[in-house]
Amino acid sequence: MAENTAEHKGPPTGTDLFEAIVNLSKRRGFVFPSAEIYGGIRSTYDYGPLGTLMLRNVKDAWWRAMVQERDDVVAIDAAILTNPKVWEASGHLATFTDPLVDCRKCNERWRADQIGDTCPNCGSSDLTEARPFNLMFKTFVGPVEGDASVAYLRPETAQGMFVNFANVMTSMRLRPPFGIAQLGRSFRNEITPGNFVFRTREFEQMEMEFFVPPAEDATWFEYWCTERLDWYRRYGIPEQRLRLRHHETEELSHYSSATADVEFEFPWGWGELEGIANRTDFDLKAHAAASGVRLEYFDQATGERYVPHVIEPAAGATRTMMAFLLSAYDEDEVGGERRAVLRLHPRLSPYQVAILPLSKKEELAPLAREVAKICRSRYMCEYDDTQSIGRRYRRQDEIGTPLCVTVDFESLEDHAVTIRDRDTTEQVRLPIDQLLSTLVARLEA
Ligand code: GAP
Repeated sequence: MAENTAEHKGPPTGTDLFEAIVNLSKRRGFVFPSAEIYGGIRSTYDYGPLGTLMLRNVKDAWWRAMVQERDDVVAIDAAILTNPKVWEASGHLATFTDPLVDCRKCNERWRADQIGDTCPNCGSSDLTEARPFNLMFKTFVGPVEGDASVAYLRPETAQGMFVNFANVMTSMRLRPPFGIAQLGRSFRNEITPGNFVFRTREFEQMEMEFFVPPAEDATWFEYWCTERLDWYRRYGIPEQRLRLRHHETEELSHYSSATADVEFEFPWGWGELEGIANRTDFDLKAHAAASGVRLEYFDQATGERYVPHVIEPAAGATRTMMAFLLSAYDEDEVGGERRAVLRLHPRLSPYQVAILPLSKKEELAPLAREVAKICRSRYMCEYDDTQSIGRRYRRQDEIGTPLCVTVDFESLEDHAVTIRDRDTTEQVRLPIDQLLSTLVARLEA
C-alpha cells in the first residue's frame, strides 16, 4: 500500500498548463462544453459533477468570509429578471457597452479595444469604425413581444442590492456601515468570449455592496482591498501570481471614484478576478431620482440624514474557480511514476475524503460502507472499490481529494484504517473511532 515519497518535478507553465486544466476538466468531470452532443455553443460550458461541487465550494468559501463570519453583512437573493427601469437608472442601458468593429473582409466581429489595427482572423486592416454594442441580453416578459414587455437578464448582481437597500435596512434594523451580499448568475452578451471559463456569456458573480458614512469611504475602500486579497491567498493562490492593480482615472467606470482589481497571472497574462470599487453615492442617488423613493439613512435619535457611499468588492465565481485550478495543478513523481495532482485547499476540493476498500471482496464492504457513512456525516466523499489501489490514489490526487481512507482485511480485526495524504503521500493508521476527529483536525485546521 505504501508509496515511495513524492519527488517534486514542478507543474507545466503557460499554454501547457492551460491545456492540462482544460483537458483535466473534461476528463474528470469538472467542466464540459455545453450541449456537446449538438456541437456545443460557442464559449458556453456546463459544470459536471466535480465542477459543480468545486464551484459550490468556491462560493461557500466566499460566503463564509463575507457573510457567515461577519456581523455587519446580510445576504439577499434578488430576481434575475427585473423592472427595466433599474437598468435605465443604473446607466446600463446607456453605457454598458463595448466598442464593436467588423472586419469587411471576413465579416468577423471584434472588441476594438482588444485588437490592433488588423483583424486577428484574416489580417485585413479593412475594419469598420468602432460603434457601441450593449452587452445586456434582451428578452420579453409575457406572451406579447413589444416595447412594453422588454426585460433584460441582469448583467451584474449589484443592482439587486441597491434597489433593495431601503427594504433590507429597515427590515434588518441596520445602520451604516453594513453590507448586502449576493451571489448568482449574471449574463453579458460578450463580443469575444473565450479562454475557457475566463470570459463567458453566462457566469456567476459574488458581490457585496458595503454602505458607509460618506466620510469613511476611503478607509473602507482600503480595508476591503486588503481583506479580499487575503481571501485569495488563504485559499491557495500563490503570492507571486496575485496582485492588486489600481485603475487610472481614465479607466474608471461611470459610477466609480476609485477602483482596484485583484488580478491573477493567467497563462496568457494578468487578468481580473475581482474589482473593488468606491461607487460613491452614484447608485442610491440614481435610483432615488428615478423611482422617487428616498434612499438614505436617517437616524431618528440624532436627526442625522445622509446618502451612504458604497464600497463594492465584486468577484466572479466561475473565473475564480479557474484560477484556483490553475494554481493547484502540479506534477511530480511517486514510486517512479509521473503523477498529476491538484493541490487544492481542502475546502475547495470537490471531495474531501475518498474511501477505498483495499479489495472488492464482500467481507470488506460492510465495514468500508460504515466508514463511508462516518465520513459522509461531515464531508463530501467518494467511495471507490474499483481498480488497483495505486490507480485509485492517482485518480483522487488528480481531482484534488486531500485524504484517502483505506479499509483492509486487518481493519476487520483491529478496527483501524489508514489515512493517506494527497500532498505528501504519507500514511498513518488509526482506530476508526478516532477517524472523524482526525479528519476534522486535518481538513479544518
Ligand atoms: N458590479 C460590478 C461588476 O459587475 P465587473 O468587474 O464587471 O464588476 C465583476 O465584474 C467580476 O465578475 C469580474 O472581476 C469577473 O471576475 C466576473 N466577470 C465579469 N464578466 C465576466 C464574464 N464575461 N465571464 C466570467 N466572469 C466575468
